[in-house]
Amino acid sequence: GAIQIPTVSFNPGEFNTTALAAFGEYIHKVFPTVFRTSFIQHEVVGEYSHLFTVQGSDPSLQPYMLLAHIDVVPAPDQGWEVPPFSGLERDGFIYGRGTLDNKNSVMAILQALELLLIRNYIPRRSFFIALGHDEEVSGAHGAQKISALLQARGVQLAFIVDEGSFILDGFIPSLKKPFAMVSVSEKGSLNLMLEVNKTPGHSSAPPKETSIGILAAAVSRLEQTPMPNMFGSGPLKMTLQQLANEFSFPANVIFNNLWLFWPIVSRLMEREDITNALVRTTTAVTMFNAGIKVNVIPPVAQATVNFRIHPAQTVQEVLKLAKDIVVDDRVQFHVLESFEPLPVSPFDDQALGYQLIRQTIQSVFPEINIVAPGTCIAQTDSRHYTNLTTGIYRFNPVYLQPQDFRSIHGINERISVQAYETQVKFIFEFIQNADTEQRPVSHLHEL
Ligand SMILES: *[C@@H]1O[C@H](CO)[C@@H](O)[C@H](O)[C@H]1NC(C)=O
Ligand SMILES: *[C@@H]1O[C@H](CO)[C@@H](O)[C@H](O)[C@H]1NC(C)=O
Ligand SMILES: [Zn+2]
Repeated sequence: GAIQIPTVSFNPGEFNTTALAAFGEYIHKVFPTVFRTSFIQHEVVGEYSHLFTVQGSDPSLQPYMLLAHIDVVPAPDQGWEVPPFSGLERDGFIYGRGTLDNKNSVMAILQALELLLIRNYIPRRSFFIALGHDEEVSGAHGAQKISALLQARGVQLAFIVDEGSFILDGFIPSLKKPFAMVSVSEKGSLNLMLEVNKTPGHSSAPPKETSIGILAAAVSRLEQTPMPNMFGSGPLKMTLQQLANEFSFPANVIFNNLWLFWPIVSRLMEREDITNALVRTTTAVTMFNAGIKVNVIPPVAQATVNFRIHPAQTVQEVLKLAKDIVVDDRVQFHVLESFEPLPVSPFDDQALGYQLIRQTIQSVFPEINIVAPGTCIAQTDSRHYTNLTTGIYRFNPVYLQPQDFRSIHGINERISVQAYETQVKFIFEFIQNADTEQRPVSHLHEL
């Protein structure tokens, strides 16, 4: 039912408001207990986002927050095995836009809470549920407003759990077993517009270089010159060290001795697009606009480049590197939008949020024996909440294989019925585990 409502975000400030309103009505209908429980306050924020405040019985426990988003990216029908907004089930899978990103979380959180309430559960620790409606286009109308509201109320959170990472299966070459990656940081971004202006004229007597040629060369230099490999700065090295013993020979020796094999590993990581995105600031030329008529020398050429910034770099550093690569003062740089990478959240024994996720993984996925910290290569709504907590963890309790990863924002996005049920179970247990006063003891075997 949730998948059938096309809550598409098209551009910043441009969403399907009919669908967003319908989604609000839909959750009222399917989770009646959540909405009529006296200790749960429901507020609509920014017209279409939802904030639930679940009042726990023990005010001495610091509250936490579960995040998810109800909007999705557009999905034209082409290439889909079943229409993207049909929500059809086939061979044990529910198909459709939003089944992994991120209506699975929206529905699983509310479903788990509904089930707990039906069993007369009263939480000890208070928590918030924030469901943004424009995550895919910046979160300025949803998450940002919810964050401002909570800040105005003086709320401080023990931790936040958001989307952004999975139980990864088959992403690291030669690692057979799946492992849970909990992202403790998030890449930043910089949307940079490059512009070249030239005097227009007739194409019969052209200058040696037009604005298009100059800009194309600049953009090509950026593409051909990757930003520096930052392997070793950030959580990735720690992730590989934790995984070391799971590899067979010789990879286990290599990952156990990163001090020695560092150069090989850092180059290995560059080979695949996904692991490459973990080791550096990526450069993606996403738009190119120029030219007005076949026989007119183009006055203006513009290109937009989307950089995703590694947590060990800053927006200013990336901007300077880009200028140093282009080295052409006919090219102007305009920063359209930028976001610093997020600080690394704690993941030691004292980190309540991280340890609760670990404990719940151990109980719901007993076959998984590695939980490793990671970096989220995409952006999530959680970046708007940094003033509320230092513990931001991105983890979806769902197995993900590389083809599933490509389906997110791609075609044939789907989740198995069993995976969805397991996600509900995970949140059902997580909420109860969060009632413990102290950090849970970690039972997972340490490597
Ligand atoms: C917006 O959503 C409604 C259903 O809520 C749907 O009928 C309509 O086609 C959608 N509009 C666009 C532009 O996708
Ligand atoms: C965080 O708090 C500072 C100081 O109160 C404020 O200026 C800033 O806008 C806040 N940032 C966010 C993202 O809410
Ligand atoms: Zn998402």
